[in-house]
Parts: sequence; structure tokens; C-alpha cells
Amino acid sequence: MQHGPLRNAYLDALGIDRWVRRDAPVEAAIEAPAAAAPEVAEAVDPKPQPVPVQARVREPLGPITDWGVLRERVAGCTACDLCKTRTQTVFGVGDTQADWLIIGEAPGGEEDRQGEPFVGRAGQLLNAMLLAIGLPRESVFIANILKCRPPGNRDPRPEEVSNCLPFLAAQIALLKPKIILAVGRIAAQNLLATDAPLARLRGKLHHFGEANTPLVITYHPAYLLRAPADKRKAWDDLKFARATYQRLVTN
Ligand code: URA
Repeated sequence: MQHGPLRNAYLDALGIDRWVRRDAPVEAAIEAPAAAAPEVAEAVDPKPQPVPVQARVREPLGPITDWGVLRERVAGCTACDLCKTRTQTVFGVGDTQADWLIIGEAPGGEEDRQGEPFVGRAGQLLNAMLLAIGLPRESVFIANILKCRPPGNRDPRPEEVSNCLPFLAAQIALLKPKIILAVGRIAAQNLLATDAPLARLRGKLHHFGEANTPLVITYHPAYLLRAPADKRKAWDDLKFARATYQRLVTN
């Protein structure tokens, strides 16, 4: 639990109102426990059934030992129809030595135009969420499950995910992150090969891939823009991720 001004800065960064008991002295008020936010379902769309990662990789990429080569492979990809509607691929951005990998769903309109993940409104909130746990955007690596924008921002289709996941797997193999933070249902379900709802996946430590990389799940910032009451739970997830990371690097 953060104390005093730092905690307040976190809450402000995430746009969370501070809850203060009217009769509480100033010290106690700062540490007043957060009231439970009402449960809100993250999404109501019918979900494509995730397939285990191994089963989904149609053509293995082969070992890629170089970020430049991987970037070119992504830029030239025509494995699915998304290549016909994209403006450009969105490879990912950030520090290629980062300990933290943030994984979202797929580029939206602004990301498709700019070629960078999370640059729209959701991106601004993601930046604030990361900063809230002491991580400037430039200090992490940010990527998506899909490298191309689905038209109209519809959910990724299973075959699109199967084609694209090897790129993410190659990014993970090059980056070797110490921890992965997956934002949103699509990223969480596809990384974990489950159709469990996000509410059941957050709040616990998962592991991903051969390297058994610690994986923490939280809400997608675009969802939090629609359901700000859940920012409080997202903050719990962020604190959990940060504590997990601190445990890893101090052991
Ligand atoms: N939402 C995502 O999941 N990724 C982006 O890059 C932008 C919005």
C-alpha cells in the first residue's frame, strides 16, 4: 500500500476520486480504505474461442535474433486480410531492454495512422496507469496481440490471432521481459489460451510461455474510460504487478 502524497498522486493519475471519511483526521483520511467499486462486465460481445498458442502457430517464424529483421517481417506480413485494410503495421514501441512488456489487443484508428501502439485516448490513460507505478512509457515495451488494425476496431478473429501470435512470441523471445502486464480480455484470454472472463483472470499471478514469464492481467484502458468505477480495481492490479516485479528483482 502506498502512503500519503504518493498514493494520492497515483489516484490522481488514474483519475480516481479520493475517498475521505468526513470525520477522519487528515492522516487517517489519506489511508482510508477504498470502497469496493461495483462489478461491471468488461464486454458483452460474443467471444471467439481461444486456441492454445502451440496449436495456433501455422507457420513457425523460425528463430529471429534481430529486432530489425523481426520488424521487417511484421511490416511485410500478408498472412491475413487485415493487410488489405491497414494503413501500416504497428510493431510495438519502447525500450528493447525493458523489464516490462505491456500487451494490448490490436491497433485502433489512431495507431493505424501513426504506426505506434496506444497513442489514442486509451493510450493516454495507459501512460497514466504506467506512470502511477513509476513506469514512464519510454521505460517499457508496448505491443499488441495483433499488429494490424481490425476494420472498425472489431474483435480479432481466431485465425488473425493465430497468424500474428508468432510475431509477439518472437518479440518476447528477443525482449526477455521480467514481467508481462496484459491489458484487457482479448490479450489475457489469448495469452492464457482460456475463455475465462477477465474478472476471474485478474488478481492472480499467471505465467507465460517457455520462459515462464510472470504475467499480470488488468483492465484495458479503453474499458476503463467507459467504466471509470473499475479504475480502483485496475489500481489494485497495478500495485500487484509492481509488487510482483519488486519481489523478482530483489530475490
Ligand atoms: N488498444 C489496444 O489494445 N492497442 C492499441 O495499440 C490501441 C488501443
